[in-house]
Amino acid sequence: MSDALLLTGAEGYVGQRLAERLSREVTVIGLGRRGTAGLACELMDEGALDEVARTIAPRWIIHAAGNKNIGACEKTPRLAYDANVRTAMNVLRAWPDVPMFYISTDYVFAGTSGSYEERSPVAPSTVYGKSKLCAEVTGQLIAPGRFTSVRVSALYDAEATFVRFLHGELREGRPVECFVDAFYSPTSIDDFADALLAMLTATDAPDIVHVAGERISRYQFARQFADACGYDADLVRPARLHSAATTLMPDLSLATPRAESLYGFQPTPHHRALRRLAQGVLHADAQPVSSVLRFPGPHARGDQRRSMGGDQLHRDRGLLRAGRTLPS
Ligand SMILES: NC(=O)c1ccc[n+]([C@@H]2O[C@H](COP(=O)([O-])OP(=O)(O)OC[C@H]3O[C@@H](n4cnc5c(N)ncnc54)[C@H](OP(=O)(O)O)[C@@H]3O)[C@@H](O)[C@H]2O)c1
Repeated sequence: MSDALLLTGAEGYVGQRLAERLSREVTVIGLGRRGTAGLACELMDEGALDEVARTIAPRWIIHAAGNKNIGACEKTPRLAYDANVRTAMNVLRAWPDVPMFYISTDYVFAGTSGSYEERSPVAPSTVYGKSKLCAEVTGQLIAPGRFTSVRVSALYDAEATFVRFLHGELREGRPVECFVDAFYSPTSIDDFADALLAMLTATDAPDIVHVAGERISRYQFARQFADACGYDADLVRPARLHSAATTLMPDLSLATPRAESLYGFQPTPHHRALRRLAQGVLHADAQPVSSVLRFPGPHARGDQRRSMGGDQLHRDRGLLRAGRTLPS
C-alpha cells in the first residue's frame, strides 16, 4: 500500500480545491469522469472501478464525488441516490480495506435549531439531505471502522458562487438582499483542507465529524465580505425568510466539538478568512455577473460549470436575493 490519497470528484469544486491543497502534503490521485484531474473513471461503472483498483492501492480515500444540486435531487431522487450513495458504495467495494472520508453535509439536519453536534438527531427534509444521510448510514453499516462522514457547510474561497455573486453586485454598486434570519456555518476551504489533513494523519478516525466555520447569518456574512473588499456594506440589505419564496432553513449551523478535541480544530474567523480571500477576488479577472448567474445552463461546458462550483448556483440563488431582478 502506498502513501497515496485517492480523491474522487477531483474535477468538481471541492475536489479541485482539495487536490491543490492536499497535494502539497501527500500524493493525490484524482478520479474524475473526464480524467482532467488524474484518472478517468465513471463511478457507477463497477468494472471500470475494479480496473483502477487493480493498479492503485491508496492509503486513504476522500469521496468528494456526488450531486449537491438540491433542485435536481428533489426532482429525481434516483439521481441523488446514484450520485451520493451508490458511487460511495462502489468505491468502498473496490477498495475493501481502505478508510474512506465521505464529504457529507449540514442538510442531514432539520435546520430549525442549529449548532448541531455529531450526536444531534438527524432529520433531513430534502432529497439531497436524505441521500447524504443514506450514504452515511450505509457506509457505517458495510464498512464499520473505516468510514468517516465529514459533515461540512457551504465551502468558500474566492471562486465560490455566492462569493462571486456578491463581488459582482457590490462592485457595480448594486444592493443585495440577504437573510438576517437564516444562519449557517460557511467554511473556508483552507480550514477544511487542514482538518482533512489532520484526519489522514491521525491514528483513529471517528464515524462522524463536523468541520465548519463560525455560525453566522447570511446577512452578516455578506456584510463582512463587503467590508473585507472595501465595498459599501450598506449595499447589503436585510431580508427575512418569511417574505421570500425560499427553501432555506432558519438555522443549519454546525458545532464542531469532535474536530476541536481530536484535531485542535479552530475555524478561522470569517472576517480574517474573507480579508485573505478578498485579495484574490479583487485581482481575479471576474466574469460579468450576468453570465455567472446563467450557469450552469444546459449547454454550459463542463469547465465553466466547475469553475462556478457546479450546481451550487441553484442553492445560492436562494441564499442571496439581488436588489435587482435576477436573470432566470
Ligand atoms: N460545495 C459545498 O459547499 C459542499 C458542502 C457540503 C458538502 N458538499 C459535498 O461535497 C461533494 C462535492 O461537492 P462539489 O461542490 O465539489 O460538487 P461539484 O462541483 O458538483 O462536484 C461533484 C463532482 O462529482 C462528480 N461525479 C458525480 N457523479 C459521478 C460519477 N458517477 N462518476 C464520476 N464522477 C462523478 C462530478 O462529475 P460531473 O461534473 O462529470 O458530473 C463532479 O466532478 C458533494 O457530494 C456535496 O454533497 C459540498
